[in-house]
Amino acid sequence: MSLFAKAATPQLSSFKITKEEFLQLRDFIYSQCGIYIAENRMYLIENRLSNRLKELNLKTFGEYYHYLRYDMNRRKELNRLFEVMTTNETSFYRNPPQLKVFQEKVLTAVIAEQRAKNDKKIRIWSAGCSTGDEPYTIGIILHEVLRSEILQWNIKISATDLSEAVLLSARRGCYSEYALRTTPRDIVSRYFTKSGAQFMVCDKVKRLVSFSQLNLSDMLAIKRLDRSHIIFCRNVIIYFDDEMKKQVISSFYDNLLPGGYLLIGHSESLHNISKAFQPQHHTGTIVYRRMS
Ligand SMILES: C[S@@+](CC[C@H](N)C(=O)[O-])C[C@H]1O[C@@H](n2cnc3c(N)ncnc32)[C@H](O)[C@@H]1O
Repeated sequence: MSLFAKAATPQLSSFKITKEEFLQLRDFIYSQCGIYIAENRMYLIENRLSNRLKELNLKTFGEYYHYLRYDMNRRKELNRLFEVMTTNETSFYRNPPQLKVFQEKVLTAVIAEQRAKNDKKIRIWSAGCSTGDEPYTIGIILHEVLRSEILQWNIKISATDLSEAVLLSARRGCYSEYALRTTPRDIVSRYFTKSGAQFMVCDKVKRLVSFSQLNLSDMLAIKRLDRSHIIFCRNVIIYFDDEMKKQVISSFYDNLLPGGYLLIGHSESLHNISKAFQPQHHTGTIVYRRMS
């Protein structure tokens, strides 16, 4: 996956951005959501935001910055900015070797510990859930592992994202065949209903997941979340600079219950970011554990 896949290569856009405007907007975006845009990517802002200028009838990126800071509709526009600046690429059963470790090692360990405590409760957080493919995959795996016993468990998968648009689509739970390209066929037939060219996630999986908007740069909002046994944050911190990565990873540490697990994307690492977790090496993936 390329970083910022929506506009990976420079293209001609109808508005030209000056260096000063770029720095202003770049710093604003960073302060609002932690997404960091390097100076050799001026074209990225030009390409992605030109349509916003056109739609708002503005002439320069400077005017757009002013709109974002002071206009009475700035809250609404901030959401549009998040929509266009985020990369939402995702799919069901993304990174199967990691999910195998999740199913066979992580989840079975958490289930065994909860059973031993006679506390049949599991909390999982999918941070940066995009259109829902990841949290629904987690829900399917929970059904696969617990089978009919799942009815005796109190399970909640909290799925959060910055972008309202992806959350709207996630709540619908309706997907193309492409989103299911690495999903085992028998899973597709047991957990989805086909409607024309679309695949709908079944209700028993939907029921496990609750979606809400959450900005990972909002530490106070994170503190208000339920504590988790497992956090998935895959292919999200790749868009942050080191300072923001450290802040987010430390807030995950605080959110995890003692003994809890953090799963990140296959191209991401906690090297130079955090020493708080114990890395556990498995075939094809590393799982990070909060020990106490
Ligand atoms: C590439 S997708 C990854 C989706 C999924 N985790 C996966 O691996 O398939 C990255 C998601 O992170 C979200 N995101 C980016 N910055 C964020 C922030 N500051 N707070 C919350 N979500 C953010 C984006 O909106 C996007 O949906």
